[in-house]
Amino acid sequence: MERTFIMLKPDAVQRGLVGEIISHFEKKGLKLAGMKLIQVNRTLAEAHYAEHQGKGFFEPTVMYIMSSPVVAMVWQGKNVVVLARELMGATNPANANPGSIRGKYGMDISRNIIHGSDSVTSAEREISLYFKSEELIDYPKAGDEWLSE
Ligand code: GTP
Ligand code: MG
Repeated sequence: MERTFIMLKPDAVQRGLVGEIISHFEKKGLKLAGMKLIQVNRTLAEAHYAEHQGKGFFEPTVMYIMSSPVVAMVWQGKNVVVLARELMGATNPANANPGSIRGKYGMDISRNIIHGSDSVTSAEREISLYFKSEELIDYPKAGDEWLSE
């Protein structure tokens, strides 16, 4: 089953939004495969945002995700990469659909609450940056039979 990497950024943790945001994923019907609270160090932050190296927002974005603990998660489900990006909303919360997570809880691109992998390839790369394979669990979940035929 497809997996994606989701990170609740420091602002989500500091603002007490962790439970509420996780609820969006649970209630959608996605399955949690791994989760931990971590303090991101510079090596990990720079590896995470490697594709943005050289851009003006690279250093502030690296500083932002290092500024306080984050909740790193792996969610699993059919088409989960695209689905999670839809739940999250546009990168800039100011332009995000008001029903999305960024649309509901954010106001500024520099504090946009949540990260989600942008492709299956990125998801595999990001999951391996944050998790060992033994930290991820595939398990039968009560209610799965009510989510599709
Ligand atoms: P992520 O899920 O966090 O990767 O967001 P994204 O895929 O929607 O956006 P992208 O990968 O292009 O940018 C990564 C992160 O860099 C964003 O989530 C923002 O936190 C930050 N960022 C991107 N563009 C800007 C910008 O123009 N200004 C500022 N201040 N931050 C930006
Ligand atoms: Mg991105």
